[in-house]
Amino acid sequence: MAAAAAKLFSISSLLSPRFRAFAAPRAAAAVCGVATTSAAERKRKKKATVVKEKRRTRSDREFELDEVQRFGDNTAGHIPVMLGEVVDVFDYASKTASLRSFVDCTVGAAGHSSAIIQAHPELKYYIGMDVDPLALEKARARIDSLVCSDSCSPTDLKTYSVLRNFRHIKSVLNEVDENLLDSGVDGMLMDLGMSSMQVDNPERGFSILHNGPLDMRMDPQASLKAVDILNTWPDAEVGKILRDYGQESNWYSLQNKIVKARSRGGLHYTKELVDLIRNSTSWSRGGRQGWIKTATRVFQALRIAVNDELKTLEDSLHACFDCLAPGGRLAVISFHSLEDRMVKQAFLHIIGGSDGDADTESEATYTKDPKKIRTDIAQKEAWIKQMIHGCKGTILTKRPITPSEEEEKLNCRSRSAKLRVIQKH
Ligand SMILES: C[S@@+](CC[C@H](N)C(=O)[O-])C[C@H]1O[C@@H](n2cnc3c(N)ncnc32)[C@H](O)[C@@H]1O
Repeated sequence: MAAAAAKLFSISSLLSPRFRAFAAPRAAAAVCGVATTSAAERKRKKKATVVKEKRRTRSDREFELDEVQRFGDNTAGHIPVMLGEVVDVFDYASKTASLRSFVDCTVGAAGHSSAIIQAHPELKYYIGMDVDPLALEKARARIDSLVCSDSCSPTDLKTYSVLRNFRHIKSVLNEVDENLLDSGVDGMLMDLGMSSMQVDNPERGFSILHNGPLDMRMDPQASLKAVDILNTWPDAEVGKILRDYGQESNWYSLQNKIVKARSRGGLHYTKELVDLIRNSTSWSRGGRQGWIKTATRVFQALRIAVNDELKTLEDSLHACFDCLAPGGRLAVISFHSLEDRMVKQAFLHIIGGSDGDADTESEATYTKDPKKIRTDIAQKEAWIKQMIHGCKGTILTKRPITPSEEEEKLNCRSRSAKLRVIQKH
């Protein structure tokens, strides 16, 4: 337990002073729409919203509902987020070279994977990875039937479904085909977080709406569960999770109540934790809205800690970039501001740029003709708005792309999604 607690990733170092101010508890409460009273608070809320709007690029791609329905999983209720945008990211390959190999690091219900496989008949290698055996089984069946039944699908495509954490990407590629690791892959996708299949299954413990055991493991073989953190971890570590991963302003009071509950036998079911949060959230914090938002933040924080999500992501971004072929692309969809911040900083580090603010930063040094790279990419692809060029790669999304208004309306889970893409030189 002590070792697991020690593994808890400190995120304070990730936050620039500007971000820290933005993520300060009161500001965070304002951004999240928790009911506030004073005019000053309302003004701050408005200002924070404007800042948020400026720092991303809303997708202007037409939302194709029929495509999303086709590639979504009706039985599991999973809708792939920013499907059209992801397809566009890898579409360049058909125009220039070809997408011969593709790795979906988080295959889930195989929504994105199915669309990519169908869009690229030239594909020779497809690898779908997930830590969740149930998701992988479903994805495998889906991809097999797609490849067998669809005349548009590649005929000599080799498909691999691998039950592994994407932090082991290099060894997975090596095991599939060592040449693949040498030559590199043309496309990679990470669609972070959990799928609707996981959230909607009460037994997994991810949902604040359905009662179930406080589990929250994406990988059922992993040893650490939410129940262990809540009932055995040191008080300060519990508080740190709520404060840092949940950005929860009421973290200290919740920490004390969670620790106090241990003397009554501890917390074992999601309903017990939800009740504790509901009873700790006063009406002045936004009533019903307030406790639901607090519960969402607490559950998210615990999930991040249980699955060691930030540390895994940080380790894996560099590894995935290393596995790309020249000209290959890595696309990452994140749902949490800390994840997005990590992707942004890792991409800047990878291309050889300074660790500054991508909105104001000057471009990094070049080893290739930057003008040529810029016109090559921009002429072909309308979705790319602004890029940052470095010596090892180009960030194709200076600001993250967020879903179109239409997608947000139809799929509320997409609301916090941010897509960032990097291309290797
Ligand atoms: C949002 S879902 C992906 C949905 C998928 N893109 C689709 O269209 O159906 C995320 C998936 O990633 C898996 N996952 C999360 N972290 C992982 C990791 N570190 N390694 C491998 N899979 C992971 C989860 O189990 C989940 O199935």
